[in-house]
Amino acid sequence: MRVVIRTDRLLLRELSMDDLDALAALYRDPEVRRYFPDGTRTYEQTREELAWVIDVYYRRYGYGLWAAVDRGTGSFVGRCGLLPWEIGGRTEVEVAYLLDRAVWGRGLATEAALAIAGHAFATLPVDRLIAMVDPANTASRRVAEKIGMTLLWPGFVDEYGTCDVYAVQRTPSAG
Ligand SMILES: CC(C)(COP(=O)(O)OP(=O)(O)OC[C@H]1O[C@@H](n2cnc3c(N)ncnc32)[C@H](O)[C@@H]1OP(=O)(O)O)[C@@H](O)C(=O)NCCC(=O)NCCS
Repeated sequence: MRVVIRTDRLLLRELSMDDLDALAALYRDPEVRRYFPDGTRTYEQTREELAWVIDVYYRRYGYGLWAAVDRGTGSFVGRCGLLPWEIGGRTEVEVAYLLDRAVWGRGLATEAALAIAGHAFATLPVDRLIAMVDPANTASRRVAEKIGMTLLWPGFVDEYGTCDVYAVQRTPSAG
């Protein structure tokens, strides 16, 4: 399985259908999915998303969501990565992060998001990266802020509902 990014504590690698059970366990947790407009996902819905990531995102864009694996234990602890969105006629790339409750509060999302942003600026022709955050999702907002994002569009409305869009611009030092 292709390893995309290594951080001190995490390895981010491409997902495969073998990750379905582990991903479905995260997606059925109401706490983990609390701020997602579509809520928890069934096993079947998770299978569809996973297949979409592998068959469409990896092939069409060369990126997508990746498995976050604890380098110490080898356990699957979440999925993080990059997601393309068509907004206002341009493709925006979102830094996405979702981790198992068991590992929250250890700085792992910040560590992953920083590395993902660095990877995106180094490999993609993007001027900026975004994060779409439910205003009540303090942890997610803090991760966005800790990787240098600031509020770009407060109260952004799309077909999924309302969220705050954070963004970080490419800087010369970001590559
Ligand atoms: C968002 C998420 C990935 C953060 O993961 P994490 O590894 O716990 O985050 P970190 O440890 O890197 O913490 C980042 C910041 O958020 C803060 N934070 C973490 N959990 C928090 C909580 N429940 N409430 C308030 N702040 C919180 C941390 O204190 C830290 O900020 P600080 O440095 O100012 O103290 C995790 O909570 C998660 O998976 N949530 C469910 C999925 C989700 O909502 N993803 C985002 C969708 S946009």
